[in-house]
Amino acid sequence: MQLPDLQLSLRQGMIEFGWGHPDPALLPAEGLARAAAHALSAHGADPLGYGAEQGPGRLVVQIQARLARAGGAPPPAERLMITGGASQALDMVCAQLSRPGDVALVEAPSYHLAQRIFRDRGLRLVGVPADAQGLHVDAADALLATLRERGERVAFLYTVATFNNPSGTTLSAERRGGLAALAGRTGLPVVEDEAYGELWYDVPPPPPVASFAPDAPVVRLGSFAKCLAPGLRLGWMQADADLVARCVGSGVLDSGGGLNHFTAHVVAAFAELGLLDPHIEGLRSAFAARRDTLLAALARHLPADCTWNPALGGFFVWVRLPAPLDAAALLPAAEAAGVSYLPGARFFPDGGGASFLRLSFSLLPPDQLDEGARRLGRVVRAALR
Ligand SMILES: Cc1ncc(COP(=O)(O)O)c(C=O)c1O
Repeated sequence: MQLPDLQLSLRQGMIEFGWGHPDPALLPAEGLARAAAHALSAHGADPLGYGAEQGPGRLVVQIQARLARAGGAPPPAERLMITGGASQALDMVCAQLSRPGDVALVEAPSYHLAQRIFRDRGLRLVGVPADAQGLHVDAADALLATLRERGERVAFLYTVATFNNPSGTTLSAERRGGLAALAGRTGLPVVEDEAYGELWYDVPPPPPVASFAPDAPVVRLGSFAKCLAPGLRLGWMQADADLVARCVGSGVLDSGGGLNHFTAHVVAAFAELGLLDPHIEGLRSAFAARRDTLLAALARHLPADCTWNPALGGFFVWVRLPAPLDAAALLPAAEAAGVSYLPGARFFPDGGGASFLRLSFSLLPPDQLDEGARRLGRVVRAALR
């Protein structure tokens, strides 16, 4: 038996809306090959040694410049470090901020696999409701007070405030200010997962939660997985200097050096060669076109009482089925008809979401997006009859 190279596995004849992976055709293999050659010729053996624990300075500087261009002052270097992607950063944040048995407040819905990481660390998840403006900050405040009154230790609050996975929702500027103020007032660390921050299709998102109260305990996580390539396993963390120092000083980094050091050099070279901006621009227009194709196909093929978000950025359309349909119960019929998706209930830490399903438009070419919506429409209509 041949062992797989990739996590992605596609079933013959199935239109797979379930995978939130980028289309391999959009990955910049040629540019990264150039960047790798440049990193090795310009910097000799540096990219091949054990790296500085915080990440190579040349990439930290590139990220500072990029964050400054996106709005606000650049974070000082002592508040930034290179990570092995958002997933590794989430696990590292758990290691530093939580103990098994603690509660994590989790935006509901939010990224199901972040929730797995928290559960792997022995955390108990409590959902914080959200609406079209994102997380309900007042509800988070009330939940935190109740839990603390009960003597529970709440480790942090997790939110995908920008182009939420799965709902596509973006937290309004007003609520971002409220959330930053909550973090400052209560000392509750807020973990802001910005995996999709660069992938806006119409207008840029509001400034990050972290920018509304620079001294509040907000941990901001970025990733090169969605805007460059997931296989790089590379991202960054912006946090208070103390948390960054604790992570940088951890035994794993002391022993092994900075995370994914060679890859970090390659990404720094990709940016230095002027390839990053045009690549992200290209992704924005490619994904926006796919988003438009899928939204038009859903309008054509789904019954009128289905609703969905406009997907202003990120990878996902979040569809609500009419009552009494349950997206998990409907999945076998959908797969029998050659279309697959993720049922919404997976994204809620403590129940709910049964009428929702998540469609990803990042992986599939336009003709499959249209055909997938057609198959889904047929299955939903049949279930309603
Ligand atoms: C919200 C969110 N955070 C993090 C990740 C994973 O990020 P990384 O590949 O950098 O570990 C994903 C991937 O789907 C995601 O949707």
